Amino acid sequence: MDGSLSAVGLRNRSSEMKIVTIVGARPQFIKAAAVSRELRKHHTEVLIHTGQHYDPKMSDIFFEGLEMPPADVNLSVGSGSHGAQTGAMLKGVEEVMQREKPDWVLIYGDTNSTLAGALAASKLHIPVAHVEAGLRSFNRRMPEEVNRVVADHLSELLFCPSDTAVRNLASEGITKGVHLVGDVMLDVLTWAKQRVEAKPPEILHKLGVKKGGYLLATVHRAENTDDPKRLAGIVNAFNSINETIVFPVHPRAQKTFAEGAYKLNAHVKLIEPVGYFDMVALTNSARLVLTDSGGLQKDAYWLGAPCVTLRDETEWVETVNAGWNVLVGSDTTRITEAVSSFAPPAKRPALYGEGSVSGKCVELLAHR
Ligand code: UD1
Repeated sequence: MDGSLSAVGLRNRSSEMKIVTIVGARPQFIKAAAVSRELRKHHTEVLIHTGQHYDPKMSDIFFEGLEMPPADVNLSVGSGSHGAQTGAMLKGVEEVMQREKPDWVLIYGDTNSTLAGALAASKLHIPVAHVEAGLRSFNRRMPEEVNRVVADHLSELLFCPSDTAVRNLASEGITKGVHLVGDVMLDVLTWAKQRVEAKPPEILHKLGVKKGGYLLATVHRAENTDDPKRLAGIVNAFNSINETIVFPVHPRAQKTFAEGAYKLNAHVKLIEPVGYFDMVALTNSARLVLTDSGGLQKDAYWLGAPCVTLRDETEWVETVNAGWNVLVGSDTTRITEAVSSFAPPAKRPALYGEGSVSGKCVELLAHR
């Protein structure tokens, strides 16, 4: 590893750089909001939105809410099979990279937009920096796992959120350009939490729920929504839980949960996808979180909400080791038992660094 949490940020700034940043899906808008703000203080950024997420509630709401600069280029790629979607992105991002000739291409996380950015840049011999590098579920059936393995192997700078991520990379032979910087989501969450506490959003009132009086759920991973057996296990569990569940639904699953065989009962409040501040407010006040999302597992931890994860593995193993996250998969009994009996310990040690990660990433980009 080339740097540590404490070692970075001590060097002098070098000259102005041009960075092409690639985002396309909801969690990437959140992470880029923090890094772009820092980047644009001294450097030029060309922000490409691939258009992977295009519904206003999946995209515009984040750009506006997080005060992000608008995308310089929107490829409007939209939905499709993995090959079709990634192929269209590759063509689009390559054109922009050829035109802009950036010093770096900056990619985030593990989506098809991440993969397209990494592939296009490396074929053009433009160095790639990967934020949220080194995460592994060791489940190659997840599209995200394939995307992140390829992205990491093509990256020259790898910004890791955890020791585990650094070790994962080392075990694949990647040690050069690896930096433990902490989790950039914590930068955004810290900012959002202050705002939410100073001026609480109206979402709880609108939904008729009170602090500690409801569970918050999200289910959107293909491994759950596209597998009838897993989906039935989760739906049966939600329907038999005797508490109000607030469930903001990803557009991919809206129809599934509202009608037909997987219809959820009325105590599960199905709502449209919400913006970041509303989500922070909902997580902050939930008695417990049920999710298959990666980001929400950490938000729940940082905000002190016990998390029941509807997956068989997690990239965020530290939250499980700390006793605040439990993996229950899609089994109805395991889910309902965890909801009624899961009790995390009093201690919640600081995980994933202390924040100010965006500044560290920009410093490292400037000094390679
Ligand atoms: C993607 C990421 C996933 C990430 C998630 C965050 C990949 C492979 N997966 O999953 O890692 O956790 O984003 O939300 O990149 N759809 C809409 N409106 C939209 C976007 C999608 O209706 O704005 C529907 C379409 O039917 C589409 C489906 O959702 O086919 C899946 O969208 P896609 O972008 O392929 O993957 P996500 O499930 O959003």
